[in-house]
Amino acid sequence: MEKTEYITLLVEGKEIRLPVVVGTEGEKAFDISQLRKQTGYVALDRSLMNTAVCCSAVTYVDGERGILRYRGIPIENLVETHSFMEVAYLLVHGTLPTPEEKRNFSNLLNVNSLLHEDMRHFFDHYPRGAHPMHILSTMINALAVFYPNVDSLSLNEDIEISTARLISMVRTMAALAYKKSIGEPVVYPRNDLSYCANFLNMMFDSPVAPYRISEDAVRILNILLILHADHEQNCSTTTVRTIGSAQVNLYATISAGISALSGPLHGGANQQVVQMLREIEKDGDVTSYFNRVKDRNDPTRLMGFGHRVYKTFDPRAKIIKKECHAFLEKMHIKDSLLEVALAVEKAALADEYFIERHLYPNVDFYSGIVYRALGIPENMFTVMFALARLPGWIAHWREMIGTETKIVRPRQIYVGKTWQNA
Ligand code: ACO
Repeated sequence: MEKTEYITLLVEGKEIRLPVVVGTEGEKAFDISQLRKQTGYVALDRSLMNTAVCCSAVTYVDGERGILRYRGIPIENLVETHSFMEVAYLLVHGTLPTPEEKRNFSNLLNVNSLLHEDMRHFFDHYPRGAHPMHILSTMINALAVFYPNVDSLSLNEDIEISTARLISMVRTMAALAYKKSIGEPVVYPRNDLSYCANFLNMMFDSPVAPYRISEDAVRILNILLILHADHEQNCSTTTVRTIGSAQVNLYATISAGISALSGPLHGGANQQVVQMLREIEKDGDVTSYFNRVKDRNDPTRLMGFGHRVYKTFDPRAKIIKKECHAFLEKMHIKDSLLEVALAVEKAALADEYFIERHLYPNVDFYSGIVYRALGIPENMFTVMFALARLPGWIAHWREMIGTETKIVRPRQIYVGKTWQNA
């Protein structure tokens, strides 16, 4: 029998033994779930800076060494040889698909790629200029009304369909929202195309100018989607697991994840990076922007820099930077914002402020430049992130309903008025 290790905590002269939990990569935690019962104390950890909220087998991140692995496989290997669809399967099911599983999964995605025709009418009534992330979270919530057969308690056939529906249909919704926003006719998904080619075709094909699918565009989109597919307990994934713990249906849960992702400190940063680079380009150099960033009274941040977990290069940013260069060169695209981004990165990495705080480019720093080169409009950048993150959210939700049975319910320390002095 395995021996349980404990750490001992001294609380008001009394020794408390707390069981130690060790992860497969050697990460250590001690379990405080019985602490209040034993001592009357709770742990206080504002913004969950140092709290593991679950044990998970989906994704491993080592923020000190810049490592990211999905189900044990390094992202560097996945982007070289696998499609986004295979990686989605890997995240959701735990292993890469066999040829037969791949065929079945692909069929399921195809069968579920069409949006319910009645849902299409929704798009006619959003105000012009509405942010696509808001539209997306609303539409996904509405899926539960059109497809009420969504079980939120067990992993059964309905869940396989809901999983495929989300991964496939959200791509259709995203492209449809774009077409509506520019007043062009909707392009339907095609079963003969790969996930990424299908998306690009729905975005850019038109009755008057058929879209020629470029293999290079498909390749880089595939890489971007894989790199964004999961990142363990980030803000939106924690949202998904938290909301899911109340046994809310999968669609409502994912809709909440999308709302969390839209924030500028999270997935919304990719849109903000491009706006910031444009501003720096207009200024002529980084000095005035850096001065604002360093001013404690100014909320400005260097967007696309810094990360709660990575204290070194974000491995995703490294790959995107390299691929971004290669793609722009191959397509003969000259984007002055790439020059600005390279100059900003160089200046930040040589600046004491950023060095001291271990601030490096994160996944969002170069991704917007690739999206621009693909012709994707700025207000769709975070939608692209959401498309990519679906398999990760779903994998965590499925893991959560399979392993955790309790509703997430943190404690607080009340600091308001007491009855005596109210
Ligand atoms: N620019 C300037 N200063 C920064 C930045 C930044 N991008 N990020 C952190 N800092 C500074 C903080 O001001 C703080 O300085 P201080 O110690 O003098 O007060 C210190 O570095 C630590 O920062 P925290 O805010 O405590 O770090 P935290 O882990 O809470 O924040 C976050 C992480 C939100 C990503 C932050 O780095 C940030 O705002 N970055 C810019 C937005 C961004 O790119 N978000 C995308 C992240 S990746 C993703 O979600 C997909």
